[in-house]
Amino acid sequence: MDSILIRGGNPLRGRIDISGAKNAALPLMAATLLTDETVTLSNVPRLMDIQTMAQLLAEFGCSAEDRGDGVWDLTTADVTGTLAPYDVVRKMRASVLVLGPLLARCREATVSLPGGCAIGTRPVNLHIQGLKEMGAEIEIEGGYIHATAPGGLKGATIAIPTVSVGATENLLMAAALASGDTVLENAAREPEIGDLIDLLTAMGATISGRGTDTLKITGAAKLHGTAHRVIADRIETGTYAVAAAITGGDIMLAGANHEIVEAALAPLRQSGASVDLLDDGIRVRRDGAGILGVDVMTEPYPGFPTDMQAQIMALMAMSHGAAMITETIFENRFMHVPELGRMGADITVHGASALVRGVRRLKGAPVMATDLRASVSLVLAGLAAEGETQVNRVYHLDRGYERLEEKLGACGADIERVKG
Ligand code: UD1
Repeated sequence: MDSILIRGGNPLRGRIDISGAKNAALPLMAATLLTDETVTLSNVPRLMDIQTMAQLLAEFGCSAEDRGDGVWDLTTADVTGTLAPYDVVRKMRASVLVLGPLLARCREATVSLPGGCAIGTRPVNLHIQGLKEMGAEIEIEGGYIHATAPGGLKGATIAIPTVSVGATENLLMAAALASGDTVLENAAREPEIGDLIDLLTAMGATISGRGTDTLKITGAAKLHGTAHRVIADRIETGTYAVAAAITGGDIMLAGANHEIVEAALAPLRQSGASVDLLDDGIRVRRDGAGILGVDVMTEPYPGFPTDMQAQIMALMAMSHGAAMITETIFENRFMHVPELGRMGADITVHGASALVRGVRRLKGAPVMATDLRASVSLVLAGLAAEGETQVNRVYHLDRGYERLEEKLGACGADIERVKG
């Protein structure tokens, strides 16, 4: 298995082009199932998860053609199957996003339950409940969600009990082809949902309330093909912003979108880094001054994203002072704590909060993590640590960070992939 080797201590300086957002591209790809015409997506990042979604869509008869340079043509002229098998779904939870579109278009779908994952149990009850309210009949048997809607899905008013990105996306897609109006109350407001709304609208759906927690969707009898550009990845932006701050460097994050990263960068500013919003991106730098401790709590958008929690913890591990980091979205998202501890960080977990007492320096060590964002937090710590850090289980990084070593290497990081 490959690993990443980092010799830390170099302040990173330069420019990083921000890729398209993985978490936007995945639902957009699923949404292409809603039409028999071609949808062309551009700015699609080159990532393992994108390949997995393409492989899954192929199960349903979609021809997913990667034209290079992040442009994909996705066409499902005829749906030839409606089974999302365990073997694919277990690799990537976002696979469950095909449930809504398949059910809306074919009136049936069988999707493996994703099961738990490293960061928590992550049930899909909210997806299922919402689809039932739209008239679907759903049974869980043998680890699979068996869903049918013999008379087609019908618009409904659905109050989603807990804010869920995935459930909002699944219900949005289903509603776009349902008969009548659907109102989603307590919808998630993440920018990736805005991007999905933009695609569905371009495909012919009528949706109001974009950016708010109440979405109204008027179902269409048929949706059509279109072309759409995936938004910039706010988590990648935030991650490289931390890379600049933690190494005392200066990085221009080219193509980063101001509005959608504001919440992710707020604690960075409070920690003493300069964050300048420029016409063509965001510049993040930290001069010789130390890192101040900042308390952070993860929340649904527009709050601080859970997908940035591990990265900000790596920064706080080197702060002058202390920081309380509270995770409110997932129940088990502190697996990076013991690994950061191996590098000399002083962190104690009390329930959903981690008390981080800053240390003067981190020291390189062999580490590994069990999820994507935890892995990248170890890379960030390694960039700032003295000596050599070997990050194992690199496949997590390949799921979500496009050309990580190349992007960091171009800014002066001493980082290489070691084939294993
Ligand atoms: C998405 C993101 C993920 C991010 C998360 C929260 C993608 C592909 N993934 O995941 O990177 O960390 O949003 O911002 O976009 N829940 C239930 N029942 C459900 C659904 C969710 O109880 O049916 C719970 C979850 O366990 C979790 C919370 O709701 O505690 C939020 O999860 P959700 O927003 O659904 O996350 P995902 O869409 O899976």
